[in-house]
Amino acid sequence: MQENYSQTSHLTINLTALAQNYRLLQQKAGYDCVVAGVVKANAYGLGLEPVARTLLKEKCPQFFVATLGEALEFREIDKNTPVAVLGGLFYGVETLYLEKNIQPVINSLNDLARWQDLAIKNKIKAPTILHFDTGMNRLGLSEDDAQTLISQPELYKSLDVQWIMSHFACADEPQHPLTADQAKRFQEISAHFPNAKKSLGNSSGLFRDVQFKSNMVRPGIALYGGNPTPEQSNPMKQVVSLNARVLQTRTCKKGDSIGYGASHVFEQDTQTATVGIGYADGFLRSNSNKGAFHYQSQLCPILGRVSMDLVTIDISQCKNMPKQGDWVEVISSNNTIDDIAQNSNTISYEVLTSLGDRSLREYKQ
Ligand SMILES: Cc1ncc(COP(=O)(O)O)c(C=O)c1O
Repeated sequence: MQENYSQTSHLTINLTALAQNYRLLQQKAGYDCVVAGVVKANAYGLGLEPVARTLLKEKCPQFFVATLGEALEFREIDKNTPVAVLGGLFYGVETLYLEKNIQPVINSLNDLARWQDLAIKNKIKAPTILHFDTGMNRLGLSEDDAQTLISQPELYKSLDVQWIMSHFACADEPQHPLTADQAKRFQEISAHFPNAKKSLGNSSGLFRDVQFKSNMVRPGIALYGGNPTPEQSNPMKQVVSLNARVLQTRTCKKGDSIGYGASHVFEQDTQTATVGIGYADGFLRSNSNKGAFHYQSQLCPILGRVSMDLVTIDISQCKNMPKQGDWVEVISSNNTIDDIAQNSNTISYEVLTSLGDRSLREYKQ
């Protein structure tokens, strides 16, 4: 790969690690459970095309995206593998779903009626995924809708209901009672759809001991290296690493401050480096005065505010100090996406989806 000096940060996406994560999740799910790939939001910011192609090579049989636009992008990459739109059946573009062989996830009785009308008009038994809301109160058929469907099966008689699904709200918190509660509610609904296969479980859901056997899990973040078991060490491989260049080093004197707002004042003379990455690259401003970068695995705490293009770090403790042009580690095994999320009071999902397109991107096979 050609190094481009106009770029001050370098994002590496390890597609081998992504494939290994897919296999690990498949092992965890068991041979009788399909592992779908959730590739919405440009595959959590990592790039839909390289991610989808890697998962397709692993024989991932089903993909999920959030919007019709994302599904159409997916169809440019692969013509046949099932792709479903979590956002549902968008108005005015219903026929595109059929034309492009895209599945809407049916979230409401209204979605269902429009999808069935389309199926009848086109004289097909359209493959259908029904999404039941079991406690998240976000998207999906409500408890009342579920009762309506149970008592009026004619509402979907012209459709081929292949899957029913639900989504956990709190699977990342091992003790949260809602997970078991949702699984139980989903099981009750499932009993009324004996011919449909069942999908329950995002990344964390797959690692929770719920008394429900799903036919398909839908991991996203774990594929991309996020920890699905925050209470334990991360079983997933690191997929993303990000390095940024030192643009300048300097000695700040005792009593000096650094950066906007003078939010850090030096208690002693300190060697600092100014690094070419900032919130415009997705390194969130809430990392100001928190966490650290690393230079050759040596800790370099962040000092002062993160600005649009720059972060200032303390390099005083480095035995071997970085100089202008050297690369420091921003995201690495020393400072994972989960570490950064914790420091900046967010989640690894936001860390990944915030990564901008200014960094030089390298996809490593
Ligand atoms: C319905 C649904 N299923 C699965 C996922 C994937 O979740 P995760 O990235 O936590 O594995 C999402 C993500 O938001 C989702 O909305």
